[in-house]
Amino acid sequence: MDRPLNARGRHLALVGFMGAGKSTVGPQLAERLGRRFVDLDAEIERQAGLSIAKLFARRGEAHFRSLEAERALGSLRASEPAVISLGGGAVTSPRIREALRERAFTVLLDVDVEEAWRRVQGGERPLARDEAGFRALYEERRPLYDDVACGRAQDIDGAVLAAAGIYVERGALARLGALVPGEGPVELAIDATVAELHGAAIRAALGARLGAVHELPQGETAKSTEVCGQLWQALRLERGGTLVAAGGGCTTDVAGFSAATYMRGIAWAAVPTTLVGQVDAAIGGKTAIDLAGGKNLVGAFHWPARVVCDPDVLDTLPEAEVAAGMAEVVKTGLLAGEPLWELPRAELVRACAAFKAALCLRDPEDRGPRNALNLGHTFAHALEAAAGYEGPSHGEAVALGLLAATRLSVEHLGLDPAVPGEVERALRPAPVHVSRERAWDALQRDKKAVAGRPQLVLLEALGAPRTGVELPEDAVRAALDSLIAG
Ligand SMILES: NC(=O)c1ccc[n+]([C@@H]2O[C@H](COP(=O)([O-])OP(=O)(O)OC[C@H]3O[C@@H](n4cnc5c(N)ncnc54)[C@H](O)[C@@H]3O)[C@@H](O)[C@H]2O)c1
Ligand SMILES: [Zn+2]
Repeated sequence: MDRPLNARGRHLALVGFMGAGKSTVGPQLAERLGRRFVDLDAEIERQAGLSIAKLFARRGEAHFRSLEAERALGSLRASEPAVISLGGGAVTSPRIREALRERAFTVLLDVDVEEAWRRVQGGERPLARDEAGFRALYEERRPLYDDVACGRAQDIDGAVLAAAGIYVERGALARLGALVPGEGPVELAIDATVAELHGAAIRAALGARLGAVHELPQGETAKSTEVCGQLWQALRLERGGTLVAAGGGCTTDVAGFSAATYMRGIAWAAVPTTLVGQVDAAIGGKTAIDLAGGKNLVGAFHWPARVVCDPDVLDTLPEAEVAAGMAEVVKTGLLAGEPLWELPRAELVRACAAFKAALCLRDPEDRGPRNALNLGHTFAHALEAAAGYEGPSHGEAVALGLLAATRLSVEHLGLDPAVPGEVERALRPAPVHVSRERAWDALQRDKKAVAGRPQLVLLEALGAPRTGVELPEDAVRAALDSLIAG
């Protein structure tokens, strides 16, 4: 059986050697994914009324293993996806390994033996009494972990990314052939500019699997029914094939949508090459094209089989495109409650991708928590629309929108008054020249408005968004006006 590609709709099982950090990572991971956390060792201890050390000493390892298998199988059979942490030796049971393969997406929390020994020596664990025995056990179990692992991680963000099927790694582009799942043929849809700059490297990495290459116009024009239609016509992939999309959000949106609809859906892999793409557009499975009447009016949810983010490809990105991405990075940092925008590039991409991935795993169809990602966007869309989409770029508009949202949060939800200043320092938003009337009209017509009343995403505190906030009209209007010059 093929390994599952992500943890959507499945249990997320954490396995790993003693000292890998399962009991630290597990509860936090469950919290971020909005899932129940099951700690099998803790459940066994509770049920037996004894610590694992005492259970081992009084009843022996075989007895413990049979209790463990019973518990593990019971938890894995439950239908509601949970985060399940298994004891270090659980993988020695063939029944547990089989149940993991059938019911879970299993993440191996990787730890090297030195670090594991450093963490557990001197503790209570029955199988960590002497170092030589500990090392031998580590070697013995390693192939069993490899046998069940669908992904690997060393920390919470790593576990989230693995669970979403996302790779963030400097130099990942060179390993693209191995990272696109399956062995079937692939075709490549690639932004024209990216083809010039990185096309050769991408083709080489895909190697013999690569069939046709489809060059798409750069920018928003790619998200048209015409380009989408041409791509449908040109594709030669069969059901087992994978469409690889390399470019910014425009490329991944149109190629992802083509993949969602071609032959009623084929697999696709996203290789985002802009900062917006790596921290936002390629994450979470939303795909779309535009109609004359508006952006993203036709689309589908189609989770990519893999997302490969190589922060090094951003080295060729023009400054304005970096700035556009930074607006989404600041948005993510405000939602996460950490100044992610201060991190070095590769770390920032990883943290932001993981943050969005967790929200999307939690809410794949955008019915609730994912709405927080709209922070600043109600104002941004109003400004973009008021300028007929010929004024501020999306990034510039989002920077302004974040300023308005944080200012309103200070006034109405008690957010720390220093936050709007931080947004200004990070993004230097410049007021735009648009008609105040047109902007206000657009804001009231926002897709998410209820009976003309905008539903805002605001912050109660850093890292604590509140969605669906309605404020008095004059307060919202004043906040919007303050973003407009003249
Ligand atoms: N699906 C989603 O969840 C989602 C989320 C956010 C945004 N989006 C969509 O994403 C689109 C915006 O994406 P974007 O900002 O990436 O724009 P984009 O795809 O137009 O790319 C921006 C520009 O950068 C160039 N480029 C791309 N990679 C490059 C590289 N490595 N070096 C040099 N130049 C490079 C492109 O040719 C283009 O000119 C919008 O259409 C938006 O609706 C979708
Ligand atoms: Zn945005």
